[in-house]
Amino acid sequence: MITPRTTPIHERAQAEEDWLTVAANNVLITRLDKTELSGPVLARAQGSLVWDVHGKEYLDFNSGQMCSALGHSHPRIVAAIKEAAGEFIHASSSFFNTQELELAEKLAGFLPDNLNRCLFLESGSDANEVAIQIAKRYTGRYEVASPHIGFHGLSDASRAVTFGTGWNKGYGPYAPGAYAFMGPYCFRCPIRLRFPECQMVCVDGATQVLDSQVEGGLAAIITEPLFSAGGVIEPPPGWLAAVRAAADERGALLILDEAQTGLGKLGDMWGFERDGVVPDIVTISKHFGGGISISAIVTTDEIADAVQATGFTHGHSHTSDPLACAAASATLDVIREEDLPTKAKEIGNSLRRRLVEVQQSHPSIADLRGRGLIQGLEFSDSPSMGVPPPGYRVEAAAVSLGLLMSVRRGGSVLRFVPPWSTTEEQLDRATSMLDDALTTCGL
Ligand SMILES: Cc1ncc(COP(=O)(O)O)c(C=O)c1O
Repeated sequence: MITPRTTPIHERAQAEEDWLTVAANNVLITRLDKTELSGPVLARAQGSLVWDVHGKEYLDFNSGQMCSALGHSHPRIVAAIKEAAGEFIHASSSFFNTQELELAEKLAGFLPDNLNRCLFLESGSDANEVAIQIAKRYTGRYEVASPHIGFHGLSDASRAVTFGTGWNKGYGPYAPGAYAFMGPYCFRCPIRLRFPECQMVCVDGATQVLDSQVEGGLAAIITEPLFSAGGVIEPPPGWLAAVRAAADERGALLILDEAQTGLGKLGDMWGFERDGVVPDIVTISKHFGGGISISAIVTTDEIADAVQATGFTHGHSHTSDPLACAAASATLDVIREEDLPTKAKEIGNSLRRRLVEVQQSHPSIADLRGRGLIQGLEFSDSPSMGVPPPGYRVEAAAVSLGLLMSVRRGGSVLRFVPPWSTTEEQLDRATSMLDDALTTCGL
């Protein structure tokens, strides 16, 4: 019989090395951004701060994995989890539960009137996967298109429509019918045009290529309203409306993936509001659970009724778990009561002002972009930027100073996603560390 070892690592560990030894021996290392075995090993978090096993403090300008945007351990989320933990953690997903129904009604109240039918899942990837399944079932078609700069997750179906990060390579073949089309990366426009003189001819060109490939009609176009993981790429005004029109012309559904952009992060409640577009299906995840794993898809009566009538079935063991629904319900209360969309604008503007100052002393920064809590900078592509790519060098220097962020587009973009709990003093400290890191790297 196997006898489990009894002395836990937290009682044995003297230093980070000991934790990393466990990582080497007992973890299948699949992290998105790092392949090497390295620290920091994070031990606890509060608000906008995270501490490692040595007690070193970091400003978390990544909001965990973007899921702690309310701030780590927001007191309202902690209280909701504690209460739910004592009452009802998990339920059979064959029955409705009260937390699920309370959340469904509340979430519908945050959306345009026609988006009112919710399904709760566990991650952004599975929400997108189910949204695609619903589009296929509704249209009777199987083909799906997505911009070449987007990210929709790493399950099989969501990875198949993730073209913007390179993480779709080496896992195929996928199910047939996943196509990329040219997305609006205006800063380095693939067809060397400038907005607004270009009149967004990229959408025409992209859809012509798409039409030439599609065999039986598109089931859906899926996109983010701002491409976060693809490099904080903001479509020009009108792009999303043009994509909506392209979907309509083809009888395809528009799925908007608001994992990163929804629930107040960009300064509106939803990323799609800027262009006055309403999707057929919206997917929601990341900070929806205040740090707990939960996602949602929301669609219209027409689509929900149609797929229900055909017997559409979907559920995981933890679908609509009451504890996760209670956390998400508390998140929605916090967003409304603390007016987080307005606060996102204020923090974003404040961070952008400081990034402009940093850029003035570091001409290696070629572009600043983003909205609300998602801000990014892109380095010049001059060969003098050196190897490894500048983003990775600056990130390493910033982490050693105590600032966490993420590196995108193969090291040419840095992304900053400060939680809503971030103070002006913390913004000052973060940009000062960024400034020092750039100087250390000779950039
Ligand atoms: C826009 C977008 N969609 C989907 C996902 C996947 O979400 P998850 O990691 O929860 O599966 C992510 C994750 O970063 C994302 O940024």
